[in-house]
Amino acid sequence: MTDAELVEETIAFVKETLAHAEGGHDWFHIQRVFNNTILIAKSEDVDILVVSLAALLHDIADSKFHNGDETVGPKMAKEFLSALQVPKKTIRHVVKIIENISYKTSLPEKGKQRKKFTSPELAVVQDADRLDAMGAIGIARAFNYGGFKNRAMHDPAIPPNLKMSKGEYKKANGPTINHFYEKLLLLKDKMNTPTGKELAEERHQYMLDFLQQFFKEWNPLAQKNPLK
Ligand code: ADP
Ligand code: NI
Repeated sequence: MTDAELVEETIAFVKETLAHAEGGHDWFHIQRVFNNTILIAKSEDVDILVVSLAALLHDIADSKFHNGDETVGPKMAKEFLSALQVPKKTIRHVVKIIENISYKTSLPEKGKQRKKFTSPELAVVQDADRLDAMGAIGIARAFNYGGFKNRAMHDPAIPPNLKMSKGEYKKANGPTINHFYEKLLLLKDKMNTPTGKELAEERHQYMLDFLQQFFKEWNPLAQKNPLK
């Protein structure tokens, strides 16, 4: 199979597998991440097949939708690629990227000092995935996920938790506005590549503008009446 055919087969598999996925983690999320991956990869020295397959398979079984189990996704990807006779080295790299792309893997884990995997290919796909959590799309995805989980949009009595461990992050079920402070606004300074950093700027500012407007509308009296 040529690389192009491999990518086509993978697209078909992902579309089918994610047919009933939550709106922020569906095929269109994968398509946006894939497109951003290709865009960012143009300026980086990376294996294009590895980043393509990793972008397409990175959320094939997100642990959020599998009772927190982080092994399902890498396992599915490995089995799928093995059946297509993709070279072992390529499969190993793609699986490593899927295991390490998530925001929560960057959070401290109680009792564990895990050696982090890094590669230029992971850097590219991670940036592409992070960009899709920011800006207008990022806002839409956050509220879609919050709605899916039946969470409050905002609750002034519940402050964001800025010092979450990985375990706490996975269990968090606070209002969606908190997710901006707990993750989305922190992404800009975590981008790996120059292209990723540049694209993140506009999206970050858009989220700041959104939050300012949101709080203005939440309580228009807040500024004028200090007793409220
Ligand atoms: P990753 O994909 O890096 O593992 P997350 O699982 O934290 O990152 O989140 C992926 C996307 O799912 C977020 O960018 C956001 O759109 C949505 N999401 C996750 N957790 C929340 C939350 N607590 N509130 C709102 N949206 C969330
Ligand atoms: Ni993703």
